Amino acid sequence: MKKILLVIIFVQLIFMSCSKEEGVYVPKPLTFDLPSNFPDITYNLENNPLTEEGFELGKKLFYDGRLSANNSIPCAFCHEQAFAFTHHGHTLSHGVNGGIGLRNAQPIQNLAFQKEFMWDGAATHLDFQPIIPLTSDLEMGETLSNVLEKLKKDSYYKKQFSKAFDDGEINSANMLKALSQFMILMVSSNSKYDKYIRKENNVTLSQKESDGLNTFQNKCASCHTTDLFSDQSYRNNGLSINPKLEDKGRYAVFENSDDLYKFKVPSLRNIEHTYPYMHDGRFATLEAVLDFYDSGAVDNGNVDALLLRADNTYGITLNAYEKESIIAFLKTLTDNEFLNDVRFSEY
Ligand code: HEC
Ligand code: HEC
Repeated sequence: MKKILLVIIFVQLIFMSCSKEEGVYVPKPLTFDLPSNFPDITYNLENNPLTEEGFELGKKLFYDGRLSANNSIPCAFCHEQAFAFTHHGHTLSHGVNGGIGLRNAQPIQNLAFQKEFMWDGAATHLDFQPIIPLTSDLEMGETLSNVLEKLKKDSYYKKQFSKAFDDGEINSANMLKALSQFMILMVSSNSKYDKYIRKENNVTLSQKESDGLNTFQNKCASCHTTDLFSDQSYRNNGLSINPKLEDKGRYAVFENSDDLYKFKVPSLRNIEHTYPYMHDGRFATLEAVLDFYDSGAVDNGNVDALLLRADNTYGITLNAYEKESIIAFLKTLTDNEFLNDVRFSEY
């Protein structure tokens, strides 16, 4: 009897060590640290618990060109870490075969707090968002089934999917969950501004930065609100309509004329590094953005009422010092820890 028991234990040990090599599901949980100055997260972690293995898998996928038709356009091609995961130097992003996209790449940061994604909110769940770039002819031009075929041939992925998910399947649900785990942990919350607001390390703002913060709170925070710097609504801020693109913004989602030329209010975190600005990247500098708010807005038929001035023009009046100090304040939103965090970098 004893002998049999020993044999069973022995066989189990061999089995365990073998399967460990193959990749077995004993995940190490990761915690999501909510910054004290942020609102609650919207992503439901119960349906996709964060684990070290899932995060690593998501990161590998994010940097893997095989997710695209020509095997050379990974997510990171348009989402570069040093620029808060935007497509540096591109007004509009280009993808496989040089196809030019319609919009400026958005940063990837603090997505766990967002309800909807993309400039027009076309993606209503983070887990489904990557299907859009993966299958778009202008971006990665691939099909989910081709991508999965490629992953199934790779021994790293065979092992890592089993380590990251209970069923170990290389399928789209698990692939998308892993990408979400990686992106959810991309939290930017350690800028100078954050440390000042949370009263950490005696960080103070200069006179100019603090004047900029005051002006910002009075003139900008109605839309760029909370410490995420967006109320997550869709608004028309009076940009002239780009005749080449005819991008109708939020209208594309429901074809409701009320939504014409409305775009998601963007977060302004790391804004110093996410140029060029606006949904089509039309402004190269923050100075140009503030000149636009001061004197460049046009009546495109559906401009936000918040921008209507007493003289019946649209915009936000700003003097030279207000512009200068708002820019100084916006630069306090740069989070170098995030931009250089090796957890998010390619190996
Ligand atoms: C060819 C360039 C390109 C590639 C490749 C690309 N993206 Fe994007 N990404 C964009 C652009 C442009 C937008 C804005 C799209 C829009 O609003 O229509 C965007 C938006 C996003 C958003 C929405 C962010 C927000 O705040 O709402 C997420 C998330 C995202 N991309 C993740 C990914 C992932 C994951 C991959 C790889 C599977 C990927 N992207 C591949 C260009 C790209
Ligand atoms: C009525 C709401 C509203 C107000 C008020 C407002 N903004 Fe915006 N802001 C938006 C929207 C919407 C966009 C995106 C527009 C687009 O690309 O079509 C935007 C875009 C921006 C961008 C570009 C961000 C990027 O990622 O490309 C910056 C910078 C900016 N705003 C700064 C400010 C500043 C500074 C103020 C105050 C002087 C201000 N905004 C006031 C709604 C607003």
